[in-house]
Amino acid sequence: MKQADEVPSSPLDRDRRGIEQVLETTVREAKRFLNALDGQPVAHRLEALPAAGLPEHGLGTAGALDDLQRRYAPWISGSAGPRYFAFVTGGTTPAALAGDWLTTVYDQNGSDAGESSVRQLSLDAVAMFRDLLGLSSDFTGVFVSGATMSSFVGLAMARQWVGKRRGVDVAAQGLAALGEVPVLSGTAHSSIYKGLAMLGLGRQNLQTVATLPQREAVDVAALDQALSAIAGPAVVVANAGTVNSTDFDDLEAILELRQHHDFWLHVDGAFGAIAACSERFRHLLKGLEGADSLTVDAHKWLNVPYDSALIFSRHLNLQGEVFRSMAPYLEPSIGPDTFLHLTPENSQRWRALPVWMSLAAYGRQGYAEIVERCCDLARWLGQQIDGHERFSLLAPVRLNGLCFTLAASGGPTSAEVNAFLDRLRDDGTAFLTPTSYGGQAAMRVSIVNWRTRQEDVEATWRAMLRCLE
Ligand SMILES: Cc1ncc(COP(=O)(O)O)c(C=O)c1O
Repeated sequence: MKQADEVPSSPLDRDRRGIEQVLETTVREAKRFLNALDGQPVAHRLEALPAAGLPEHGLGTAGALDDLQRRYAPWISGSAGPRYFAFVTGGTTPAALAGDWLTTVYDQNGSDAGESSVRQLSLDAVAMFRDLLGLSSDFTGVFVSGATMSSFVGLAMARQWVGKRRGVDVAAQGLAALGEVPVLSGTAHSSIYKGLAMLGLGRQNLQTVATLPQREAVDVAALDQALSAIAGPAVVVANAGTVNSTDFDDLEAILELRQHHDFWLHVDGAFGAIAACSERFRHLLKGLEGADSLTVDAHKWLNVPYDSALIFSRHLNLQGEVFRSMAPYLEPSIGPDTFLHLTPENSQRWRALPVWMSLAAYGRQGYAEIVERCCDLARWLGQQIDGHERFSLLAPVRLNGLCFTLAASGGPTSAEVNAFLDRLRDDGTAFLTPTSYGGQAAMRVSIVNWRTRQEDVEATWRAMLRCLE
């Protein structure tokens, strides 16, 4: 018989014994990446990469890391860096990075089994976030994976609320008993349509209400009229920061419509709600307190890594009715308001920890500084664009985003915009993505990264000029 120490050890055994080495190697890679972040190409033109297959005998962490660095690492984008302005892509503050790593190290189930400090830290993180937004404790909050899932939860509550108004418990009885649910919005984000599709309410049932002239903000008089044509309860989806022109609906005026109409107000503040932490921008969110449910991302302007968002609501009971997941094996330690019973997920990552870390580390002031700096930089870049004959700014710079296009008689084609953006990507300095605004081919800049500084927008502007034909 072989002696135990003669048995060849598996990669997993070796990693277990060499965990310190594994961590050190990982830290070395993290340092290499972060130190190179500001200087590396922000995005790549990708050729198809050779696929990796499943090894029969594993490589061990060191071997897998080698393979990772050889195969994929050169093509990782600078989306965590200061000049990645596509979509609405936040970075990761140092404290959030530490919190996220420790989330993995601790590997707690964020759904809260009642046997650890998971619940208290999570409730503290929610309360801190709520405080940052200036909301009262009437709002409860839970973590989900992103704004899309957050709005899904908000709309699910809205659906349940409409059902109750009609004497139907949709969560118990199903959709067939409900009938159509009127959903109205000025400029709904695509995630709202997705939510309606997932909830069986139907993408096509979203009623688009007229917006103010040259704006993405809803025309409240038109909303009033549209609601007047509806008998019974409705759902209104308002925006606190539209993705193209960072426009805000007038929440206070919308809430006044409640005097005559019965509706649930869901606010999509995926990134814009964070602006409430700055005295300069708080006015944009007046009325937020009156929302029934509110979507806010943490992985955007809060600069916490993917995937993290919150759904705030004032209707915990409805949330529980929809998302309850009772089972005898779960009940002994878990009460009805535990996170497990409030979100689509049962088991979930402890997303509260990186948020708690970052809010504890930088506080209200730290976030107000990030918000105000991003907005100042957006305004500076907007001024350059507005003052240049080859570009055309399509919307005023209200916050942290820019929507603009190439100056061309009759407007550029989308092929021309895409060609410009391809040249910019290949230049490597900055990364922007296309959109369509008011029917025009356009592009966007969204500044939400804590790392972005004046020199970054100046370098971006120089690159944009270089990439004009
Ligand atoms: C206003 C708005 N709502 C929703 C979303 C969807 O966010 P997520 O990708 O986190 O689901 C975005 C993303 O940019 C957004 O800007």
